[in-house]
Amino acid sequence: MKGIVFTEFLQLVEDKFGLEMVDQIIEESNLPSNGVYTAIGTYEFSEMLSLITNLSKNTNIKTDDLLLTYAEHFFGVLAGGYPQLIERYTDPLDLLESIENHIHVEVRKIYPSAELPTFEVLERTPDSLAMIYKSSRAMYSFGLGLMHKTFEHFNKKAVITCDKLKDDGTEVKFMIQMTNG
Ligand code: HEM
Repeated sequence: MKGIVFTEFLQLVEDKFGLEMVDQIIEESNLPSNGVYTAIGTYEFSEMLSLITNLSKNTNIKTDDLLLTYAEHFFGVLAGGYPQLIERYTDPLDLLESIENHIHVEVRKIYPSAELPTFEVLERTPDSLAMIYKSSRAMYSFGLGLMHKTFEHFNKKAVITCDKLKDDGTEVKFMIQMTNG
């Protein structure tokens, strides 16, 4: 997992819960990196899992809710860092439909070691999109948060429902219905 995902995560934890919480979850997690991350480095996904699990324990907030909030913050980081990837779209559904064949393809050129999910498009209509998320990291709530912000970015609204195809969250069907497009 890319370092920027860790540095932004710890910054958000500091902003929301304070520096003591950052120190606490680093101490409680078993981190080969010792909690020292650089934005361009690459680290084990298990470190993120450990940090989020401990944050969840200390705050009594479910890990999926933490991932959702984190993704809503991370969208701003991505949109600010890679505006050219987003600006070529005028419709949020076009953007989401293109994650697999355009956006994450470009991401892989920038970060060859990026660990990305796959999104398989099942159906597209002018105002809806159904696709299947697959990833061993089971970060579908992170995807959901990015989707929310994608619609906000284009001043559109949508109802997004998730249907777990596997209990562990490694395969999830997303049904996205745009409501004012
Ligand atoms: C992960 C880039 C848009 C879904 C990531 C990572 C990067 C990235 C750098 C981390 C990879 C790693 O740590 O190894 C981008 C950029 C985007 C974009 C630059 C747009 C400009 C989106 C959107 C979605 C999405 C709109 C919506 C569903 C995900 C998910 C992950 C991820 C779910 C977590 C990894 C996993 O589940 O396996 N993306 N992304 N991305 N991205 Fe994107």
